[in-house]
Amino acid sequence: MITSLFFCLLMIGSLELLLVEGLNPPNIKPFHFSGDLREGLRTAVICVIVDGDRPFDFKWFKDADPLLQEKGHFSIQIINEFTSILNIERLNAESNGNYTCRVTNSVGSDEKSDVLMMKGEIHFTESRNGTHL
Ligand SMILES: *[C@@H]1O[C@H](CO)[C@@H](O)[C@H](O)[C@H]1NC(C)=O
Ligand SMILES: *[C@@H]1O[C@H](CO)[C@@H](O)[C@H](O)[C@H]1NC(C)=O
Repeated sequence: MITSLFFCLLMIGSLELLLVEGLNPPNIKPFHFSGDLREGLRTAVICVIVDGDRPFDFKWFKDADPLLQEKGHFSIQIINEFTSILNIERLNAESNGNYTCRVTNSVGSDEKSDVLMMKGEIHFTESRNGTHL
């Protein structure tokens, strides 16, 4: 019992030490999908951590689901300790959604999201503007 109390105090002590050392939680720069996307194109967004202390752990989500490399037309690259790119290699009917980059370090986390909404329908209508020759 005394041992676990001691251990507990030790934990609190080291936590305080971390806080005193001034470790900062991550802060992600907002990202935005291009406004002119349609089926068949490719696109990418970049998740850049502008503030906070290393090491960081990156996670990408589409709606609530974690994005896994193996699942088809995505690829995720960790460029360096504070940058990750989400590539969508071929936009299709299932690409629309709310994409989130979440970054965690030892003292906190941050996340930024953007909604990908393709304009396929609009392009289709625009190209049929009644000019028949
Ligand atoms: C996208 O997802 C994030 C994180 O779950 C949420 O905070 C945000 O409100 C969502 N945006 C839209 C437009 O649904
Ligand atoms: C639609 O109209 C624009 C100009 O108003 C024209 O340049 C274009 O060729 C037209 N598109 C078609 C498919 O007729």
